[in-house]
Amino acid sequence: MSETLVVVGSQWGDEGKGKITDYFATRADMVVRYQGGNNAGHTVMFDGNKYSLQSIPSGIFNPATVNVMGNGMVVNPVSVCAELDKLQERGVTDYKLRISSRAAMVMPWHPLLDGAYEQSKGKALIGTTKKGIGPAYSDKYSRVGLRMGDLLDPGYFRERLEAALEVKNRELQMLGLPTFNADEVYDQYMKLAERLAPMICDTSELINEALRTDNDRVLFEGAQGMMLCIDHGTYPFVTSSSPSAASVPVGAGIAPQWVRKVVGVAKAYCTRVGSGPFPTELHDTIGDGIRERGHEYGTVTGRPRRIGWFDAVVARYTAQLGGITDWAIMLLDVLTGLDTISICTDYELDGCRIKNPPSTIAALERCKPVYIEMPGWTEDITGCRTYEELPENARKYVEKLAELTGVQIGMISVGPDRRQTIIVDKELEKF
Ligand code: GDP
Ligand code: IMO
Ligand code: MG
Repeated sequence: MSETLVVVGSQWGDEGKGKITDYFATRADMVVRYQGGNNAGHTVMFDGNKYSLQSIPSGIFNPATVNVMGNGMVVNPVSVCAELDKLQERGVTDYKLRISSRAAMVMPWHPLLDGAYEQSKGKALIGTTKKGIGPAYSDKYSRVGLRMGDLLDPGYFRERLEAALEVKNRELQMLGLPTFNADEVYDQYMKLAERLAPMICDTSELINEALRTDNDRVLFEGAQGMMLCIDHGTYPFVTSSSPSAASVPVGAGIAPQWVRKVVGVAKAYCTRVGSGPFPTELHDTIGDGIRERGHEYGTVTGRPRRIGWFDAVVARYTAQLGGITDWAIMLLDVLTGLDTISICTDYELDGCRIKNPPSTIAALERCKPVYIEMPGWTEDITGCRTYEELPENARKYVEKLAELTGVQIGMISVGPDRRQTIIVDKELEKF
């Protein structure tokens, strides 16, 4: 029997999925991204080197691991090539990368449309990464999208391109944006195809083959966080895919039974980039301190991240939706030095205690967090490698998170490096 493990973001993204994926990738046969695109920014640190990945899976540093960009992703071939160039400059040349022939393709008009939609929203803008992710997913569902496999058949690609431009050029014109010439896009993409074609294949078949192989370990790497889920997040301030483990079967092309153990990656506090409700947001020097200590600036856009206390309402909600079996509590070291640390246990909405986030932004914005306070610790924890080495108050803090959410602590991260990781649930070591 093969082993599977899913890594998902359980807050608003940037929880440390890259670090956790890389940690397990050192022993994974396969790492699969199943949704999102180059809106993601996943940081990986080991041996004194720091890398940032956008759409390439975080197992890319392990030459033996097959890295798969699944059909549920939106793939920008220009940005994939740029990412590969960047890796090459850093000496990362020995890797295995496969791209699904069924993955939707980000076309050059998508970032332009992303920008124009944002501009037209005025003050209600989402604060997207402007990578064209929303428009690319929209085109997929409107069925005017192109797919990565189209690049393998120039005649078919040309046909699909012309059909898409028939619609998109009209829309671009209407919005006062530049239009596209089929010949130029064709030439540009056929050049990209020369490089990417050897990697494009039926990845569902590839993953299923690994799943059928005894003792193979297949890791699924989520992007974004579940509060940014198109269905269950703080709509409309969300991304355009579902980061949940529930997306794995569709986005990878496997049966749902393969989703078993799910690590929910959560910061020991919360952050959010872009607009939208954030009940536990801090607008004071405590928040500023956390931002500086945690280097909380966006990996993709460089924007300062908004900071807030750990929100157990959000964590319970995403744990339930995502089938989270273990927490990976990240950046615990960043909370060192605080006298007290608050945790939001419930919301108060219009005078009533509620246990789950309401569905509208209007109601969410009226929610007042109900807090409990936990005593902090002053000891440097960045060198701790076992649970027992952590100061008592740090242990009490994470134990409270487990109690409030009903999910066990699987692992704890005390620094950005691969080694700064504490495994608490020994079952995770099986992977
Ligand atoms: P992702 O999008 O979920 O992969 O997360 P990002 O890479 O965008 O952001 C997480 C940031 O936190 C990165 O800069 C990581 O290097 C850093 N990081 C991860 N774990 C820890 C930790 O335990 N402590 C500290 N101080 N930084 C961490
Ligand atoms: P990782 O994988 C944090 C946010 C954007 C914006 C909203 C919609 O690194 O955790 P989009 O470009 O997806 O249409 O933007 O979602 N967002 C992220 N925030 N981490 C991410 O990815 C994000 N990907 C998208 O800031 O608010
Ligand atoms: Mg990120």
